[in-house]
Amino acid sequence: MTARTDLSDQELLARIGRITWFHSLELRPGLVTPGAKSLAVLRREEEALLGPFDLTGRSVLDIGAWNGAFTFAAKRRGAGRVLATDEFAWTHPVYRGREAFDLARAELGLEVETLQIDPTRMDESLGQFDLVLFLGVFYHLFDPIDVLQRMRAVTRQVLLVETHQDALERAEPAMVFYPGRTLANDDTNWWGPNPPLMLHLLRQLGFARIYYRDHPHYLPAEGSRTRGIFAAILPGAEPAMSANFGMEWRDLGAEGAMRDFRP
Ligand SMILES: C[S@@+](CC[C@H](N)C(=O)[O-])C[C@H]1O[C@@H](n2cnc3c(N)ncnc32)[C@H](O)[C@@H]1O
Repeated sequence: MTARTDLSDQELLARIGRITWFHSLELRPGLVTPGAKSLAVLRREEEALLGPFDLTGRSVLDIGAWNGAFTFAAKRRGAGRVLATDEFAWTHPVYRGREAFDLARAELGLEVETLQIDPTRMDESLGQFDLVLFLGVFYHLFDPIDVLQRMRAVTRQVLLVETHQDALERAEPAMVFYPGRTLANDDTNWWGPNPPLMLHLLRQLGFARIYYRDHPHYLPAEGSRTRGIFAAILPGAEPAMSANFGMEWRDLGAEGAMRDFRP
């Protein structure tokens, strides 16, 4: 990997030091941003999230891209048009997410587009994308159902939702509300859905098949599925985007899929 900017290592390190990073990104050999998510965790997440899809030439929309780990991963996996969007972390005075994204993109030399927009304002005027990444955002939204409808409008083939989960002991669709700082002392955390809720909500929005897998990192810690990943497939999706789900995934619509599912 060759550096694509003319910054010296010292200058680059100084720029990196001004930012609070969420993603660890190797910008130059051995030069890694100090992200809350380690390189090892991000590698496992990337494989779990993007592994089932042949992204060659396909368009990808990354909602809440923050520092861009999955935007860059999609491009490296051969995607054609890739659009990264965010607002909250990109305009945050401490996270300085936009500055971070732009620095990483320039240093990595990857051709990906950006648009500063909150998911609550997105609609079909953005166009449609083969794969929409909606990772770590659902539970941050006060009205996640409205936003999920917006995500449906911009999806051409597959919507990938990664979310915090709760109410796992309940068989019926349910979602827990967290007022104030109830969840992790963070007042941007609002909701914890369970898998039946996500299944029925995504079906209601027109997705034909919904696959689920546990998150590879926040695994059944403390006996629960702290976080889950849902791949929602629209009718007519290409096999390259919808037929390569391995053993870790289960088709939530299949007979008996919900049996043996509770923690
Ligand atoms: C947990 S990070 C996930 C980042 C990245 N997608 C990932 O999976 O590593 C949450 C993302 O959601 C966005 N976000 C957080 N709170 C939000 C809010 N209240 N409204 C809209 N977006 C929010 C942030 O800007 C950030 O990019």
